[in-house]
Amino acid sequence: MTQNDSPVLTGAYAPIETEVVGEDLPVIGEIPRDLNGLYVRNGPNRRFAAEGRYHWFDGDGMLHAVRFDAGKVTYRNRWVRTRALAEELAAGRALWKGVMEPPRRDRPDMPLKDTSNTDVTFHAGKLLTMWYLAGDVYQIDPETLETVARADWNGTLKTTVSAHSKVDEHTGEFIFFDYGRAHPYMSYGVVGPDGALKHWIPVELPGPRLPHDMAITPNYTILHDLPLFHDRDALGAGRHKVRFYPDLPARFAVIPRYGTVDQVRWFEAEPCFIYHVVNAWEDGDEVVMVACRFRTPTDRHGDPDPERFATMIAHLQMDAYLYQWRFNLRNGRCKESMIDDTLNSEFPSINSGVRGRRNRYAYHVKMANRNLDEPLFTGLVKYDIDTGAYTAWSEGRGFWYNEAPFAPRDHPSSEDDGYVVSFVWNARGRRSEVQIFDAQDFGHGPIARVIVPQRVPNGFHATWVSAERLASGR
Ligand SMILES: [Fe+2]
Repeated sequence: MTQNDSPVLTGAYAPIETEVVGEDLPVIGEIPRDLNGLYVRNGPNRRFAAEGRYHWFDGDGMLHAVRFDAGKVTYRNRWVRTRALAEELAAGRALWKGVMEPPRRDRPDMPLKDTSNTDVTFHAGKLLTMWYLAGDVYQIDPETLETVARADWNGTLKTTVSAHSKVDEHTGEFIFFDYGRAHPYMSYGVVGPDGALKHWIPVELPGPRLPHDMAITPNYTILHDLPLFHDRDALGAGRHKVRFYPDLPARFAVIPRYGTVDQVRWFEAEPCFIYHVVNAWEDGDEVVMVACRFRTPTDRHGDPDPERFATMIAHLQMDAYLYQWRFNLRNGRCKESMIDDTLNSEFPSINSGVRGRRNRYAYHVKMANRNLDEPLFTGLVKYDIDTGAYTAWSEGRGFWYNEAPFAPRDHPSSEDDGYVVSFVWNARGRRSEVQIFDAQDFGHGPIARVIVPQRVPNGFHATWVSAERLASGR
């Protein structure tokens, strides 16, 4: 199979070749005047075809952003000018193959291509892009989407940084984790609102792992050591293959925000895999974490099926449900329970102003899986995480939704007083739209649609930055 035969290079996945700016875009419905800020989404968009097999995770990072300003809407898109892309542009061809092919042995500094295509957040006046295998962090101008610099926190950064590192909007801190194949396999740090590293510790794991997300509360950070990681034999041969180890527990480190190595406390839970955390908060002696937990696939005897689990993860075949863990800091025990197991949903987002605090609402993408090579994002869901009740929305077959952040209206009066925004591939109109939902009347469907001047390929993570944060830089 060549790269171009891959289903994740065709249809609504196909990469685009242009960087454009579209102003005063056509709107169906009316843009609320109190919706002001920036919706931006990261995702893979291959610049040069390479030899070998293509995985959806391989494409070069491209940002698509929509600026809402007093009813006026502007769209723009740009590649993240990563080190690797700069090298390939200079060469005029691909210099790395994808993650399903052998890594480059002649490039110990970058055996796999760091595309920065996974996540995007806002810190110290800049958008930051990040990569799921831990890599460089790129600072992007939020107005122009130009890549400004590779973040090194005033020269103090000694490690790479993983996607899903978090910003605490109340303190202006960027709280990050890093993981890799060399001992101690993980580290943890805090960057201040001034862009200088203020805290860093190594976090020792039993071996190389593949954590994907983390959680924060005002006083604690939660890191993941989950029993789904490299197949040891494949790793020894230099191949990227994952395996589920059903006999190992899931482990969660609860660390005071500025904790030292000896203050890292590990909690054990049922073996599981998690891509994405919804939120975490403190509740008396407990630190609570809510996340989308993968349903462990079972064989015909009802036993965990590690092979099938590995295949699902490798192909981003989501089968996740809403779940919570409670880490008791007094007795060291973890209690866990299901919140809702009736819906397969992932790519959660919340009102970012309540990250780390007890919250009630989350906005997820409803997932379906037609086959292993083509994950399907079929609708959006508003969850009440107190009760597990939800309201779902979809316009039907062929529509493709994206991670849909919450956008508070100007001067909000409650957690869900605002909007939910998402790029949507409209299968009927054969076009990309930004759909805007009233978060308190989610089942009504979009109250406005902005017609985007080009197709926005299916992608990964997104964020909302309010006009207030854009102006203040935090
Ligand atoms: Fe992710």
